Amino acid sequence: MEVVIVKDAKAGGELIAGAVADLLARKPDALLGVATGSTPLPIYDALIAKVRGGGVDASRARICQLDEYVGLPAGHPESYRATVLRQVVEPLGLPAEQFMGPDGSAADVQAACEAYEEALAAAGGVDLQILGIGTDGHIGFNEPCSSLASRTRIKTLTEQTRIDNARFFGNDIEQVPHHVITQGIGTILDARHLVLLATGEGKAEAVAQTVEGPVASLVPASALQLHPRATVVVDEAAASKLKLAEYFRHAYDNKPEWQGI
Ligand code: GLP
Repeated sequence: MEVVIVKDAKAGGELIAGAVADLLARKPDALLGVATGSTPLPIYDALIAKVRGGGVDASRARICQLDEYVGLPAGHPESYRATVLRQVVEPLGLPAEQFMGPDGSAADVQAACEAYEEALAAAGGVDLQILGIGTDGHIGFNEPCSSLASRTRIKTLTEQTRIDNARFFGNDIEQVPHHVITQGIGTILDARHLVLLATGEGKAEAVAQTVEGPVASLVPASALQLHPRATVVVDEAAASKLKLAEYFRHAYDNKPEWQGI
């Protein structure tokens, strides 16, 4: 696992957008997995700016969701489909055919989960998966004690995650669904490159456990330790509980530039 400590969220966004740009230069039709939440927005802003500036051609990029709420009416503005369309797909100027996600409004949720696994495999797998992290260490919506081998499935949110996400639902926790579809940890680990961004002090404990704690389903993000190419990008505040912070800085400062992240 590589840990990169950056000055702030904007610098993290620039760094990761740069990695996406490099990927698209190598593989124009790369499948980019995107996360929702506030944290990855600087990545999307930086990427959109590069595309609009003409430095990056993302016209053949394909985008896929990590997770989705269950039971919101189709088109609900806070569904992750609507969110990713608004924040990533439309600003990049991509047609809806280049975007996929699980169907959170399906009558048969189990079938929707299986269909999404099949669609990801048929698309050739995710090339780069952007991840955020929940305050309880979740990735996607894999709450603590999710199987490290799990595949796309329905999960029940913890109360903490519903409290954390209530801000997207007018601060009314009653509006936050209890159930979600999420790529499993095993599904996420199938991506070729995992890039997790965490910013702010509220994520410091989860980051420390993810990076320096044992691999444990209690901290789902710790499964990144099992991946051959996982990059954790953190700002100073999110890095504040890392025991090896100085080593991570030293390693990154001395890394050959051609390696990227
Ligand atoms: C939700 C999403 C996660 C995201 C997390 C953290 O639970 N399902 O993918 O990482 O929120 O969100 P934020 O970045 O807003 O803290």
